[in-house]
Amino acid sequence: MTRKFDFLVIGSGMAGISFALKAAPYGKVALLCKTTLDESNTSFAQGGIAAVTYEPDNFEKHIEDTLIAGDGHCNLAAVEKVIREAPAQIQELLRWGVDFDKDENGLFDLHREGGHSEHRILHHRDNTGYEIQQSLIRQVRANPNIEVYENYFAIEILTQHHLGEVVTQHTPNIECYGAYVLNQQSNHIHTFLAKVTLLATGGIGSVYATTTNPAISTGDGIAMVHRARGVIQDMEFVQFHPTGLYQPGARPTYLITEAIRGYGAVLRCKDGREFMQKYDERGSLAPRDIVARAIDNEMKIRGHEFVYLDVTHKNAEETKEHFPNIYKKCLELGIDITKDMIPVSPIQHYLCGGIVVDLNGKTSINQLYAAGECSCTGLHGANRLASNSLLEAIVYADAAMKDAIKQIDTIQYNEFIPEWDDEGTKLPEEMVLITQSFREVEQIMNAYVGIVRSNLRLKRAMNRLEILYRETEDLFERSVVSREICELRNVISVAYLIIKHALRRKESRGLHYTIDYPKRMRNEP
Ligand code: FAD
Ligand code: SIN
Repeated sequence: MTRKFDFLVIGSGMAGISFALKAAPYGKVALLCKTTLDESNTSFAQGGIAAVTYEPDNFEKHIEDTLIAGDGHCNLAAVEKVIREAPAQIQELLRWGVDFDKDENGLFDLHREGGHSEHRILHHRDNTGYEIQQSLIRQVRANPNIEVYENYFAIEILTQHHLGEVVTQHTPNIECYGAYVLNQQSNHIHTFLAKVTLLATGGIGSVYATTTNPAISTGDGIAMVHRARGVIQDMEFVQFHPTGLYQPGARPTYLITEAIRGYGAVLRCKDGREFMQKYDERGSLAPRDIVARAIDNEMKIRGHEFVYLDVTHKNAEETKEHFPNIYKKCLELGIDITKDMIPVSPIQHYLCGGIVVDLNGKTSINQLYAAGECSCTGLHGANRLASNSLLEAIVYADAAMKDAIKQIDTIQYNEFIPEWDDEGTKLPEEMVLITQSFREVEQIMNAYVGIVRSNLRLKRAMNRLEILYRETEDLFERSVVSREICELRNVISVAYLIIKHALRRKESRGLHYTIDYPKRMRNEP
């Protein structure tokens, strides 16, 4: 079955929904999500969204903090754009009904997180993402121009390749005509033709065995663009959040927001001693890459599996009021955070790299835009500043929409795209092969491509992955298409790109630390 839309939006987190809402006045929008409308990284966000709101904060300080965290690898134009456009996008969120916490004087209650020189994080208690996601969903449900497709899994973006042409990374004008999409209820593959397609498929946490990300985070958009020969960059910069709640076997790992350190919590070893000053004068509030590496080091030196985060010295009632969900979650596990220290360890959390986009959110493929965590704008450089991610998603979704609507009337649907060809793919796949290979990818990534890397570990990871790649491609050719096999292919592609880019970088910078090249080589702009 073929459907036609002016805008095809793949992903219903902050980036996808905000684009859909803004594009809807200009044409028909299809909004796809692989599970339900509310299952996204966005829903999980705790700390909040960074934006300059009141003096003494100003744009220059937020820009400076972002550049410092990014360790000399940020794109200055992207940084300037996101930070200067933040206040207008916050107003948009408020218009859509997002409720950010205020103090007793009616002013926004701003939190502070690692790497920020000022209090500038707008938040809704400690579940800001859920508040944003629900507010945006209410707007989507009320919008007649947006058709929501839940449980629709995008398999491939459509390009000239699907018209029989050979497409390589040197093909001068790769075009995107929409996507092949699996309806997971009927198991039919539909052709969604679109004038403009936005990839907003979020993170890649499922490539690792332990992550704060929900299971949907298999890097599908990045893998699709890689297969379509688009440009992907900076995949080596995988962010590990310093303070995932230590709870072996939990998936996803529950996050203990960085805002709690902004509020005064400190990191301690198991013996109760503070250690962060040894690593950085900003202590527990240093940027994430530094704190995560320091914890990793302390754990390795002592042979411990976690360190403690201590907020017991703060006023108990205030702690409960600011962090009600964390308080409740920990209490369920027998930890009263007002009296007990919280066991934490670093955990995969975010990807700074991804699908390269310009300042208009355009990818290297025509008619294809990307926004949010799947994209690489250059804002984060080698290490993302806390709470800059939701902000980037909404700013770039806005930029993509503004660029797309300028061209939408001049773009034609490509009516020559054939229906998905499933000839010869009749074997019902053996699920055990898929789940086992998935577990192997996660284990390889956790073991060899973590916070501290080396050439030996990366090469070992690549060798193991190559076997899984060959086996999976073979299985894919012969099997009935399912979400599971597609996700396996995607995590293998993403893992491959992370390792390849990590091997290429002959220095340590930001989130990429290797014992073979422990120094930063040159200062980038
Ligand atoms: P997501 O919100 O992840 O949405 C992805 C969407 O893509 C989903 O709807 C999914 O169904 C869909 N999708 C994926 N693949 C397919 C496919 N093949 N077919 C169809 N649909 C598909 N950032 C901050 O700035 N501040 C915070 O406080 C913060 N806290 C965080 C806390 C946690 C626990 C986590 C995990 C992340 C946090 N982040 C935070 C990061 C931030 O939440 C994410 O980077 C951001 O929400 C990403 O938004 P997105 O729109 O790009 O993608
Ligand atoms: C957190 O609340 O610590 C997460 C913030 C982020 O990932 O930006």
